[in-house]
Amino acid sequence: MGSKMSGDLIRKINKLRNNRNAVILAHNYQIPEVQDIADFVGDSLGLSRAAAKTDAEVIIFCGVHFMAETAKMLNPAKRVIMPDRNAGCPMANMITPRHLKALKAEHPDALVVCYINSTAEVKALTDYCCTSANAPKVIEALPINREIIFIPDRYLGDWVTKVTGRQLILWEGYCPTHRRILPDNIKERRREHPQAKVIAHPECVPEVVEIADYVQSTSGMLKTIENLDAREFIIATEIGMLYPLKQRYPDRVFYPASDLADCPNMKLNTLEKILWALEELQQEITVPEDIRLMALKSIERMISIT
Ligand code: 13P
Ligand code: SF4
Repeated sequence: MGSKMSGDLIRKINKLRNNRNAVILAHNYQIPEVQDIADFVGDSLGLSRAAAKTDAEVIIFCGVHFMAETAKMLNPAKRVIMPDRNAGCPMANMITPRHLKALKAEHPDALVVCYINSTAEVKALTDYCCTSANAPKVIEALPINREIIFIPDRYLGDWVTKVTGRQLILWEGYCPTHRRILPDNIKERRREHPQAKVIAHPECVPEVVEIADYVQSTSGMLKTIENLDAREFIIATEIGMLYPLKQRYPDRVFYPASDLADCPNMKLNTLEKILWALEELQQEITVPEDIRLMALKSIERMISIT
């Protein structure tokens, strides 16, 4: 996009953002132009917190569907608009209420913990929510004698099992984008950059997580680097993450573990679509009130633990 054209777009967005009393929230994986224009950029937990406390009347949510739904559930009086409603999360769709009810029937005494990457209907059937930033903490807060079902991410669940020592009943969900990162990619990058430290997202396959130096959520990556002496890092997560890392640490070097880790859903949002969202206020996210109240309990329990 030409700089004049994007300059015009940015001016129009800024004007309408004021007129509409809107706030723009963006996930760390969004394209650079979207991150640059956002009022707040963060991980799933940070975005939930920002959505819960905003005074704006309209939330333009640049992420994927379950995140916008979570924002709506936490702040129902606000209009939550997605620039592109087609931005879904395949992992969130890997478990349905029907699947979960069947799993609960097999383990009637189990507590259910669900990763925030899940639909509102699924959250409504669970006891606790968690994000990749707080999953071990949530699990450790649960009574030691209770069985725990953990859905839908089996790789995050595997990592949490290893960190906490708790056995979890896992579901077969996964993130197709993170699954593209292979242990061989890490080995190859390490050969190329022997001084580099590897930071992996817990959505990566266990073989990648095992050989990483650090395992962190996206915002956890941003924080961890501050306290490390290393100058070079191999980043095993969605490639959009490279942008906020480079912005915050211009004197360090970041290499993507794999260029294939590119989430097509996260990349659907553009400046044009943000402007359109502000103009039209279409593509509003709604959640039926009974579902919202049930799902909110699991989200609020997470927030009270963390
Ligand atoms: P976090 O930003 O919470 O680490 O989550 C990553 C992710 O894949 C969101 O879909
Ligand atoms: Fe879902 Fe994976 Fe994309 Fe995150 S990166 S939105 S988990 S598909």
